[in-house]
Amino acid sequence: MDENLLRPLIDAAIQIRQHAYAPYSKFHVGAAILASDGTAQQTFTGCNVENASYGLAICAERAAACAAVAAGFRTFLGVAVAASPLASPCGACRQFLFEFGDDIVIIGVDPEQPDALKRWTTAGLLPEGFRLE
Ligand code: THU
Repeated sequence: MDENLLRPLIDAAIQIRQHAYAPYSKFHVGAAILASDGTAQQTFTGCNVENASYGLAICAERAAACAAVAAGFRTFLGVAVAASPLASPCGACRQFLFEFGDDIVIIGVDPEQPDALKRWTTAGLLPEGFRLE
């Protein structure tokens, strides 16, 4: 993806992290996805949302991905994930993002150290990810 678009995506992830609902883990995560519908590009964001029934927690990445898909944007160009300390996407989110492409750029950022980024791709994080084909 266009490197100039990374910083706004990272900033969007940091911003949405403020809305994380994580009273149980206290681990706040924000995610932003730059997506295309074939005509336009748009950024979609999500935060983790926990529940008293712990296993129902929804990760930030999957929340953002669902927002994009629901709006008709299924081509993912890049994903930014903000957490402190910096976190790589969990296994479930790796598979969830892999569904939409194997070379999607994923950037990890700790808002406390916004210049120390980590960079991965979907297939790099999930070799031989599952596809029904
Ligand atoms: N979490 C995410 O939002 N994304 C990840 O990739 C890892 C974990 C959330 C889930 C839970 O609300 C909290 O972080 C602690 O696991």
